[in-house]
Amino acid sequence: MQLLRTAQDMAMACRGAARPMGLVPTMGALHEGHLSLVRQARQDNDSLAATIFVNPTQFGEGEDLTEYPRPLEDDLAALDREGVDLVYVPPVSEVYPPGFNTWVDVPGLGDLLEGAHRPGHFRGVATVVAKLFNLIRPDRAYFGQKDGQQTVVIRRLARDLDIGVDVVVLPTVREADGLALSSRNAYLNDEERRAAPVVYRALCKAQRLWETGVTDARMLREETRRVLEAEPLVERIDYVSVADTETLDELDHIDGAAMVSVAVQIGRPRLIDNVVLGQ
Ligand code: PAF
Repeated sequence: MQLLRTAQDMAMACRGAARPMGLVPTMGALHEGHLSLVRQARQDNDSLAATIFVNPTQFGEGEDLTEYPRPLEDDLAALDREGVDLVYVPPVSEVYPPGFNTWVDVPGLGDLLEGAHRPGHFRGVATVVAKLFNLIRPDRAYFGQKDGQQTVVIRRLARDLDIGVDVVVLPTVREADGLALSSRNAYLNDEERRAAPVVYRALCKAQRLWETGVTDARMLREETRRVLEAEPLVERIDYVSVADTETLDELDHIDGAAMVSVAVQIGRPRLIDNVVLGQ
């Protein structure tokens, strides 16, 4: 595995790489969710690149940018074991050099749900992902369904900017009790960790209702919220959404696919998760 630190070196290495080439962009602190993307990407492509970059522009003020876990040696060893060919680990100054002032924004999609609670978050995500796509020029790029809105935003930016990358979205990887894997789960204390599966239980409630024929989206939102409210360690519910999978507009009635998504505060971390109905 080749480790590249500058955009110039990464671009050169990518130019010589076998095609098709897959890309798994990450912020590091890798877990089985990331590794499931790497394994699929390894199978699908003749060469494979990954990136590790804790992107400062997608963190809001007061968020966990400085504390975000950075176990670089472990991450590199895991990527090497999974057969990654190229790993790009740039310093912040390489991605955002002095004078940097061009942004990729996906207004609308990027202002809803997570965007409403984390202003500027998706501008940061879209900008760094567009930069990585431009630099690496992968044929396929892999993202987890866990960050459902992020996948919708990235698909849209790839389409709108004619990037020519196939955005592949793979299922959320969960603990045995249903908690979606996330690098931020490390912030949960033991008691909060025991409470956290309520997030997936609430989503499963919506899924079960829909499977038994309930298509009234308002009822699904209410029942999902009820499950979350019954857990005393849920300090705040930021949203419970039943939305169109492409526009993210809230639905009254489900007659095609819908994404049920929630964000809650349990202890220090905000936990987000979703299930897609009708896919
Ligand atoms: O999902 C993530 O880890 C990040 O948002 C991404 C896509 C790597 C961009 O920084």
